[in-house]
Amino acid sequence: MQEIKRIGVFTSGGDAPGMNAALRAVVRSACHREIKVSGIYRGYEGMIDGEINDLSPRDVGNIIHRGGTILKTARSARFMTVEGRKCAFDQLAKNRIDALVAIGGDGTFAGARLLYLEHGIPVVGLPGTIDNDLFGTDNSIGFDTAINTAIGAVDKIRDTADAHNRLFLIEVMGRHSGFIALYTAIASGASAMVIPEREVDLDWLISDLQGAINRKKLFGLVIVAEGNPLGSVEELARKLQERIHEYEVKVTVIGHIQRGGSPSAADRILASRLGHEAIEALRGGSRDCMVGLLNDTITLTPFDQAIGKRNLPDPELIELATILGL
Ligand code: F6P
Repeated sequence: MQEIKRIGVFTSGGDAPGMNAALRAVVRSACHREIKVSGIYRGYEGMIDGEINDLSPRDVGNIIHRGGTILKTARSARFMTVEGRKCAFDQLAKNRIDALVAIGGDGTFAGARLLYLEHGIPVVGLPGTIDNDLFGTDNSIGFDTAINTAIGAVDKIRDTADAHNRLFLIEVMGRHSGFIALYTAIASGASAMVIPEREVDLDWLISDLQGAINRKKLFGLVIVAEGNPLGSVEELARKLQERIHEYEVKVTVIGHIQRGGSPSAADRILASRLGHEAIEALRGGSRDCMVGLLNDTITLTPFDQAIGKRNLPDPELIELATILGL
């Protein structure tokens, strides 16, 4: 096994709170093992363009509490081509980078996998996405902060919903995954939720809300996952208003607020643990895999499984959200 003298680290895809904490852990754990670190800027875009600089433990000081990513991030179309990946690999070779730590989500890992398969460079991934859709980790870095942000927003909307007797549809992020919606629904005490992981139709939702009206609920909060099966939240609001007259229906899309802000304690600790383990995994000969935490135990999951299998919410939690929304 080739000794690793220098690793490259990058963030890619959507930013997530805790990416900086992960970067800090990677750089400092590498230093602890006398491995040099190069920071690659703007994800695969910067890799192709050679935007690469040395990173020392001091360069990652004062960032553990910051959202976003000091390495910047990008979604790269060029890296989707064989030629783009060859350019990227040539830049890594020119900078004497022996291995990579990729911080991001499924698109990041799909790219990392191709780089490994085509050019043999060892890559280990850290799950950095608010969506929590990666198989092989209970939580991804950024998820906890995102749900806390969403819950804070719903708490505020609750005041207005209560004051005006309104039904609010609150759209949260998650792409094709309903994790953010489910956890936000439970923690904010929502009346109902619409998520991709549970089959529902409009009639079911209306009869559920009608039941709430019959039980004298004076206002309603429905958490809608952006990837929900009933379509756009605006369209859904229009259809609900046509058939529900007891409430005025309003829409709030929380949007990118969920991606920003200072990471929660849970995200900082998760990022620090996983960042450290990424270095240990590379030293131990791991490659083509994601480092995650399952049942508080560090786990390595091959990239093809991390992105090929679906991380599904616990059905008991879906049931719980429904029961408590009564
Ligand atoms: O993957 C993170 C995420 O925030 C998703 O929840 C959302 O669908 C998407 O990224 C938004 O992407 P962009 O910031 O490119 O609009």
